[in-house]
Amino acid sequence: MSGLLLKEASVVSVERPAVKHAARDRARIIDLPKITDQRGNLTFIEGNRHVPFEIRRVYYLYDVPAGAERGGHAHKRLQQFVIAASGSFTVVLNDGRKRRKFFLNRPHYGLYIPRMIWRELENFSSGSICVVLASEEYDESDYYREYDNFIRALGN
Ligand code: TYD
Repeated sequence: MSGLLLKEASVVSVERPAVKHAARDRARIIDLPKITDQRGNLTFIEGNRHVPFEIRRVYYLYDVPAGAERGGHAHKRLQQFVIAASGSFTVVLNDGRKRRKFFLNRPHYGLYIPRMIWRELENFSSGSICVVLASEEYDESDYYREYDNFIRALGN
């Protein structure tokens, strides 16, 4: 992955036990296939191949007003893959110990977010579209919407 496109900053914030992940479950940028053509480029994604889960839901954010922030929650089971299909935005991930910032600005790569990661999406450029592939159908009971509850759950 191009290091130039990936802006990453980490700050050790609180001393908490880390959730143990296998390497394949770590949050990371995944580069996608890109078929270049004079008529335009094409990128495709197959579940369990380009992303490490079966895709059960797709949703997208658009018409995000300047300065708005999305996210602000974690998920008990849900895994996601986030793509800047158009424009750019920043995703801030927090596993309870460390914050990492990812800048997404190309449609041919995305950010894999495993379960139990607090996420915030910010700095949406005008006209940007954030496409999210999800491993589960929508289930409100899968959310931690209170940061304290998320941190408490990590300690269990
Ligand atoms: P939320 O997940 O909080 O949005 P974001 O993380 O992008 O800020 O969802 C916002 C609202 O939309 C909330 O009322 C739940 C609803 N929603 C669905 O009904 N289905 C879905 O697939 C998603 C992602 C959200």
